[in-house]
Amino acid sequence: MENNNLIIIKEGSTKFYIHERDLDSIPSKSMSIFYNKKMIINRDISNLAIQVYSKLYKQDLVMVDSMAASGISSIRLLKECNNIRKIYINDINPMAVELIKKNIKLNNLDKKSFQIEVSRKDANYLFSEIAQKNYILKNEYNQKPNVISIDPFGTPNLYINSAFNAIQREKGLMCITATDTAVLHGVRPKACLRKYMSKSLKSDYCKEIGARILIFFASRIANVNKIGIKPLLTFSSGHFIRIFLLTYKSKANISKDFKKYGYIIHCKCGYRTINDNNILKIPKICPTCHSSDKFDFAGPLWLGELHDEMFLKELIIQNNNSDYQNKRINKVLNFALDELNMPISYYNIHKLCQNLKLQNVPKIDVILNSIKQKGFVASRTHFDPLAIKTNMDIDSIKQFLKTL
Ligand SMILES: C[S@@+](CC[C@H](N)C(=O)[O-])C[C@H]1O[C@@H](n2cnc3c(N)ncnc32)[C@H](O)[C@@H]1O
Repeated sequence: MENNNLIIIKEGSTKFYIHERDLDSIPSKSMSIFYNKKMIINRDISNLAIQVYSKLYKQDLVMVDSMAASGISSIRLLKECNNIRKIYINDINPMAVELIKKNIKLNNLDKKSFQIEVSRKDANYLFSEIAQKNYILKNEYNQKPNVISIDPFGTPNLYINSAFNAIQREKGLMCITATDTAVLHGVRPKACLRKYMSKSLKSDYCKEIGARILIFFASRIANVNKIGIKPLLTFSSGHFIRIFLLTYKSKANISKDFKKYGYIIHCKCGYRTINDNNILKIPKICPTCHSSDKFDFAGPLWLGELHDEMFLKELIIQNNNSDYQNKRINKVLNFALDELNMPISYYNIHKLCQNLKLQNVPKIDVILNSIKQKGFVASRTHFDPLAIKTNMDIDSIKQFLKTL
């Protein structure tokens, strides 16, 4: 690969090469080496999350970036986070591996004290190799990775099992991206059953359903590997979902988490309810529209919390103290904080007002305050800036919107 078809671009404090011909391409598999500048928010949040994880759980990092493409995420992390002991930077594409090596040199990272291992392997092979090495050589220099990142094209489903086999079983951080949102958001429910063993559902709150299916799937695969998970952060934006899961190994707690697997039942009229304890029970009659034949469901999926409060609060501080000071990230994190302990699913206010043929859409903050004054709970949600979460039922919300 000649340098003359490479150009240098910058992301934050990091400069790196990409192929000139990839610069204006629509991000896809057909690029010679994948780079998506719109995913900068994903990389910013990932870096913040890994730094906060390292601080809160007192971990020196041994990290695997299993699908690194140009290496931008790892290189940024190496420059922005100061307690990395070792990092594996891997991609199956040989051109990507060559570029990763160039980008490490460009940023003078080859002269630093941490260990960098660049490889061209199938991610599953790499995870298995790491796990195998750990079985054979159990010593402090061969610590299991405590952070693993999976960032494939489309579904991550094929890689999750071997990744959980490789990760530190107590207080490890598993970071998983899915970009097959048509599958998880209910456009292709049969594909979802095939890939995630769960039925997705097209609805106004499909983004939350998709994220909960991904967490459910990752959690079940973790359980098979004698690991439980706790979501620290769930981030759904545009065409991707990224989840950050903390691992634990208490079998008793893993069994308790079975209560967090269940279903969402949805009626076409907008009524929705949940079935917990992993049992699907469709009601005979909808309490809102009184029909019996308009029900559908999504699941099994994760019914537990999507984020951890302490983790979110630290992330907000970290973002405000960082060079990014990103307002969009701040908004996402504050909405995520707001949606903690709230009912599952949300209502898009603009769509509801449109259906009710209301001339004016009231301000979301005005709606939230009025609902709270009536004694209900209400919050924003990071899944949709035009939506609210509340325990007020759909009919009451509609009646109430007409009065505002
Ligand atoms: C979406 S891109 C990753 C983007 C990158 N993490 C970033 O932040 O720019 C997916 C990458 O996964 C690589 N890949 C696809 N299948 C793989 C596999 N089985 N093992 C390892 N890498 C793989 C592709 O070559 C591609 O570079």
